[in-house]
Amino acid sequence: MTAASYQRILGANDRVQVGFIGYGLIGRQHVYDFKNQKYVDMAAMCEAHQPRLEEGLKECGPNAKGYRDFRKMYENKDLQAIVVSTPDHWHAMMTILACAAGKDVYVEKPMTLFIDEGKWMIAAARRYKRVVQVGTQQRSGLHYQKGTKLIREGYLGKVIDVRMNSTRNITPGFGSFAEGTAPSELDYEAWLGPAPKRPYHQMRGLYHFRWFWDYSGGQMTNLGAHHIDIVQWAMGVKAPNLVTSVGGRLVLRSDGDVPDTQETVFQYPGFVASYSMREAATGRRGAGLEFIGNKASMVIDRGGFEILPELKIDPNNAVPQFKGHSSGGVQRSDTKPTPYTQAMKEPGSSEQQFDLHVRNFLDCMKSRQRPIADVEDGHQVATACHLANISLRLGGRSVRWDSDKEQVVGDREAAAMMRRPYRAPWDKVLAELKLG
Ligand SMILES: NC(=O)c1ccc[n+]([C@@H]2O[C@H](COP(=O)([O-])OP(=O)(O)OC[C@H]3O[C@@H](n4cnc5c(N)ncnc54)[C@H](O)[C@@H]3O)[C@@H](O)[C@H]2O)c1
Repeated sequence: MTAASYQRILGANDRVQVGFIGYGLIGRQHVYDFKNQKYVDMAAMCEAHQPRLEEGLKECGPNAKGYRDFRKMYENKDLQAIVVSTPDHWHAMMTILACAAGKDVYVEKPMTLFIDEGKWMIAAARRYKRVVQVGTQQRSGLHYQKGTKLIREGYLGKVIDVRMNSTRNITPGFGSFAEGTAPSELDYEAWLGPAPKRPYHQMRGLYHFRWFWDYSGGQMTNLGAHHIDIVQWAMGVKAPNLVTSVGGRLVLRSDGDVPDTQETVFQYPGFVASYSMREAATGRRGAGLEFIGNKASMVIDRGGFEILPELKIDPNNAVPQFKGHSSGGVQRSDTKPTPYTQAMKEPGSSEQQFDLHVRNFLDCMKSRQRPIADVEDGHQVATACHLANISLRLGGRSVRWDSDKEQVVGDREAAAMMRRPYRAPWDKVLAELKLG
């Protein structure tokens, strides 16, 4: 797979040959979304799980070719785009090799499993001049675009605080399973890929990979990545400069090692952000994402946004009265509170976001522009999430980050956690590409 396999420039009405890797929860959605687009040929499907491969091929249609090994699929020079919907531990390797094979990539979020992977992915995308769109599809939601524009224009005044929440109660969890051999229908070796070799059990596989550090960053990178993406995009920042995260697996006894409870504070230039994640207690339902400014706040999620104005008051009227002030104390006035801005509500739709995100990717394949959720954006979002998990795994130690140098400041142990080893042969495959 060399530069010789680069695709020619596509015209606006040229058809695009798309190959899919992974036909799971989100892989199915992508097949549906790409199939609905004009000028797309559903050309190939790669799956490590045989029944899913068959289902995916059926959905793609009679012209799609099936693969168990994505490297074989990449040898197909007709393919111009690859959609990576595998667990997180495969995202970087599959994206890098697709770029090297001259293919554009739509890769799911979180873009990476550890920070340095993002640097390698950016290097590969730029070296091979590929379009890489990350699956943070909320950016394509029209109400997210309108809402973030209002934030940038100052409608909320100065945004000083952002609150993020993902809470639910899934006690007792998804169960505990004995180790055994993988079912013959799953190619477990292919599924594991660059991740550490571990004995198979039911949770180390389809969907439940999310509960293990080996393949995922837990809900911080799964759900938190969507929130943090909107925060960094709206606020025009690359990364936090200080992150502190505490929590643990406090309730769930089911298989897995990522936390079920996690509280994180991010210090960004000019504002603070916090993320509450709970898997075993919903609590009072807070807004998924709330931007708090000194003139208004905005609650925004996939269903829409709502702006609630702050009230302008006489500060003297905010002072408690009790029995009133003695001489010389604060005197209240009869100034009436007035809203700083107008309240506003805007609906949104999840379906529309997925569809528009795919369209943006296909448009960029033709224009060769950077997509709305470019590989650099995906790296920056994942970095914020990984820094939080590094802090958590170091017992809540604050981690300082230099976003220009992309380095942890003054903490060797934390810095060492920016990288993990790949299992053979993927360590060698990566090294041969000399991406840094
Ligand atoms: N953007 C979103 O809203 C959204 C929603 C859900 C999931 N996701 C992301 O999508 C990714 C997949 O999540 P999921 O819930 O669909 O997982 P899943 O386990 O349901 O599906 C992943 C599929 O990838 C296949 N796979 C694994 N290794 C493979 C290999 N080497 N070759 C071919 N196929 C392989 C598995 O067999 C499985 O069918 C995750 O990174 C997740 O964070 C994003």
